[in-house]
Amino acid sequence: MNIIETKNIIYQYPDGTEALKNVNFSATKGKIVMLMGPNGAGKSTLFLHFNGILRPTSGSLKIDGAPVSYQRQDLMKLRQKVGIVFQNPDDQLFAPTVAEDVAFGPLNIDLPEEEVKSRVKEALKRVDMEGFEERPPHYLSGGQKKRVAIAGILAMRPEIMVLDEPTSGLDPKGAFQIMRLLCKLNREGITIIIATHDVDIVPIYAHEVYVISEGEILKKGTPQEVFEDKELIRKANLRLPHITHLFERLHEEDQISFGKSYPLTVSEAKKRIVEMTRDYKKFN
Ligand SMILES: Nc1ncnc2c1ncn2[C@@H]1O[C@H](COP(=O)(O)OP(=O)(O)OP(=O)(O)O)[C@@H](O)[C@H]1O
Ligand SMILES: [Mg+2]
Repeated sequence: MNIIETKNIIYQYPDGTEALKNVNFSATKGKIVMLMGPNGAGKSTLFLHFNGILRPTSGSLKIDGAPVSYQRQDLMKLRQKVGIVFQNPDDQLFAPTVAEDVAFGPLNIDLPEEEVKSRVKEALKRVDMEGFEERPPHYLSGGQKKRVAIAGILAMRPEIMVLDEPTSGLDPKGAFQIMRLLCKLNREGITIIIATHDVDIVPIYAHEVYVISEGEILKKGTPQEVFEDKELIRKANLRLPHITHLFERLHEEDQISFGKSYPLTVSEAKKRIVEMTRDYKKFN
């Protein structure tokens, strides 16, 4: 079942820029869906539609099977269901302290104070930001701000989490921790939608992948299907994952054949090498 579904969305900014052109995007409930595309492709613009911050110029959007209503009360409900982590945490964080920032959403839906406290504690723990409760968000580092922004959304316990470049600006360990957390949340049933340029994380975590460029969806498929289309990857200013690129170079430079497609992840690469070694032993 599609938990998010857009039909022919066109979005034009007030200055006339047409940022989305006939976008058909759907996310299956319970999956991790990734949207890849170059700068200016329309990723953030599309994401801002998912909780009603932007309204399509034309076309339609359904969340959980129901057309989005832009009435104030309905938007409040929509924003409990769909939590968005913005690309730039400075657009998200505004309270005087980290704890107050994370508490803002839960307080806004009138949860009891004790419940808010426990949600704030748990959310900060999950993003590894315990001990920062009293710090002003604007004095945190970029990666720390990003974690606090994610905690703010976690504290709302949304059904769908939409994250615009969640790993950009994070150190490698931080990026890994966030991806591990998102996988865990996904296993708990939350649908996760991510915009990213980080092609190396895509085959490791994504169930479904979209490629967007100049406001148009160029392709939807599994990571294998998307990365197999090398022309598309180039056209969208992306690149192959490092591991795939390594195999491509081994093929080109050393004439080693790896079958009809290159592996996308380390575990696929291992499997392929084991198979090759077995074949080699068999034929020699
Ligand atoms: N407020 C705005 N007013 C006018 N045009 C805008 C506005 N915000 C974005 N755009 C334009 O809309 C297009 C899509 O921008 P968007 O921010 O959605 O791209 P993106 O895929 O998120 O890029 P990035 O990878 O750099 O974050 C771009 O051409 C951009 O210049
Ligand atoms: Mg963006």
